[in-house]
Amino acid sequence: MKDVYILAIESSCDETSIAIIKNGREVVALSTSTQMKTHAAFGGVVPEIASRMHTENFTFVLEDCLNKSSVGMDEIVAIAVTYKPGLLGSLLVGVEFAKTLAYVYNKPLIKVNHLIGHIYANALENKLEFPLLALVVSGGHTELAIMEDDYKFKTLGATLDDAIGEAYDKVARVLNIPYPGGPGIDKLAAEGHSSYNLPKPVLDETYNFSYSGLKSSIINLVHNEKQRGNEINAADLACSFQTIAIDELCRKLEIGLKNTGIKNVIVAGGVSANKYLREEIGKTCAKYGANLSIPKIMYCTDNAAMIGAAAYPLYLKGEFTDFSLNAESQANIC
Ligand code: KG4
Ligand code: ZN
Repeated sequence: MKDVYILAIESSCDETSIAIIKNGREVVALSTSTQMKTHAAFGGVVPEIASRMHTENFTFVLEDCLNKSSVGMDEIVAIAVTYKPGLLGSLLVGVEFAKTLAYVYNKPLIKVNHLIGHIYANALENKLEFPLLALVVSGGHTELAIMEDDYKFKTLGATLDDAIGEAYDKVARVLNIPYPGGPGIDKLAAEGHSSYNLPKPVLDETYNFSYSGLKSSIINLVHNEKQRGNEINAADLACSFQTIAIDELCRKLEIGLKNTGIKNVIVAGGVSANKYLREEIGKTCAKYGANLSIPKIMYCTDNAAMIGAAAYPLYLKGEFTDFSLNAESQANIC
């Protein structure tokens, strides 16, 4: 079969990213412009600024991506774009940019769910083996699903309130760790001990998650200690938070492994870059003899390569979309 080159576009939050992906698994070129520094000054992503910056950056990112690639627009067979979920304004800039490219170069357009994109980041390294349990842990989502085949999902559970990444970012903020807080907490926690007694998330046997109680208890604890003039041991608090947050992911994954007997696990989304998570999920999978796939760190957080990988099965099925494509801010895996 002739090689399939897809040009993929991602702009759901604060990264402007374009990639060229060969046969759904090989990254020919990837160019990403991050706005992290700009938003860090505000302690979080400012949606209006994010969309404006995508508008400014897209043409430069495209130029850079094409310069890095030996493949030209004439060899591209389709344009793929993230259309949900994310910041509406940011998504719209990407969707309109993709439509323009598809129109000018006369290529079919493929719409991709960002969360499914995170899952397919794993296809950039290994062929996905089905059935598998997919654990998506990002800034906006915490979801556990069974994946029977390409694009065949059954959600087992999701967060009832905050996503795990959101909890990381909010806890980081009270500890004066710059946005995005996940990497900072990851580093700080490694220097501490789990010495704070914090509430554990809902201790049930369902597949759902809950992180707002844990997050709020830390915010309250820090405020109370400050008012009393007491010192916080930031490394210990970061470690205590992280231990509970990640152990809960492992506990739910373990219920899934036990109940379904599935022997393949993939983890996806920004929080899967976490060192403690990678170690602990590894131990849980080993206990059940399950194969584990986690993307390389660079493909854990938002990037267009994963969107190109997720678009490939849709290209093979001929699932194209027309120019009426619109962005949607809310979505789950299915
Ligand atoms: O997938 P992602 O890049 O964007 C969304 O789709 O939301 O995930 C971003 C989230 C942020 O909450 C960030 O703090 C978290 O991933 N994150 C981490 C780490 N690196 C990024 N959380 C914990 N440990 C990390 N090393
Ligand atoms: Zn993401």
